[in-house]
Amino acid sequence: MDHAIVVEKLNVWIREDHVLKDIVLKVPQGYITAIMGPSGSGKSTLLRSMNRLVELIPGAKVKGKVKVFGKDIYTEDPYKVRKDITMVSQNPNPFPHMSIYDNVAIGPRIHKLVKNREKLDELVKWSLEKAMLWDEVKDRLSDPPTVLSGGQQQRLCLARALALKPKILMLDEPTANIDPVNSKKIEDAIKALVRDEGITVIFVTHTPAQAVRVSDFIAFIYNGKIVEYGLSRELALNPGHELTEKFLRGEIG
Ligand SMILES: Nc1ncnc2c1ncn2[C@@H]1O[C@H](COP(=O)(O)OP(=O)(O)OP(=O)(O)O)[C@@H](O)[C@H]1O
Ligand SMILES: [Mg+2]
Repeated sequence: MDHAIVVEKLNVWIREDHVLKDIVLKVPQGYITAIMGPSGSGKSTLLRSMNRLVELIPGAKVKGKVKVFGKDIYTEDPYKVRKDITMVSQNPNPFPHMSIYDNVAIGPRIHKLVKNREKLDELVKWSLEKAMLWDEVKDRLSDPPTVLSGGQQQRLCLARALALKPKILMLDEPTANIDPVNSKKIEDAIKALVRDEGITVIFVTHTPAQAVRVSDFIAFIYNGKIVEYGLSRELALNPGHELTEKFLRGEIG
C-alpha cells in the first residue's frame, strides 16, 4: 500500500505546552483516515502540522518529519504544501464580502490554476458538484454566502478547498455543528471524492460511529499521542488498548 503521508517522530510545542508527542503515522493513499480522540488531545494540531498551518500559531515549535509523497514538507514552499494538502477548518467561514462564486474561485485565481473565465467556471462548477452543493446554488452564484444555511456554508467551504484540486483533503470535524441531513451530504461527498477522484482524505471526529461509518482507518489520539491505529472496524470492534475501549464506551472525552 502506498502512503500519501508519513509522519515520523513528530513533536509540537505551543509555548510551554507539549501538544504532540512522538507521533508516528502513515496515511494510506486513496483511502479515508479518521483521526479520533477527545477534546484537547491534539487532533486539530496534528492536521495543521501536516500542511504547515501550525507554524502560523505564535510560539509553535515543530520537530520531526512529515513526508508527503516522499518529500519532507518542512523543506518545501509552504504555499505549495497548503495548495496540495487543503484543509477545511473546524469552524469554517465563507468570506462574507464575496459572492458564492468568488468564494470558490479565489483559490484557483491566486494560484493561477486556470487560463480563462470558461475554465474557471468549469472548475467552480466541478468543486460545487463534488461538495454536493451545485444544485442548491447554481441559480444564485452571485449572491453572498450569508444567504446560505449553516450546512450549505460548510459545503461551500468544502468546495473552496476542492477548487485547489488538492491531492490530500483534510477536514477538521466537518459535521460537528450541522444537522443530520447536511452531515450525510458531507459524508457522502467525502466517500465519492475518494472513490471517483482518488483523493486521500483525513478527517477529524470525536464520534466513533462516524469514524466507523466513513473511514477505512482510524488513528486514536489521546493526550498528544497516537494510542492505536488500524482498520476502522477492527479497531472499533476489538480495541487493543484500554484507553481506546474507554473512549469507545463514552467514558472519556
Ligand atoms: N493556537 C493555539 N494557542 C495555544 N494553544 C493551543 C493552540 N492550538 C492548540 N493549542 C493547545 O494544544 C492542545 C491541543 O489542541 P487541539 O486544538 O489540537 O485539540 P483537539 O483535539 O483538536 O480538540 P477539540 O476536539 O476540542 O477541537 C490544547 O491543549 C490546546 O490548548
Ligand atoms: Mg480540534
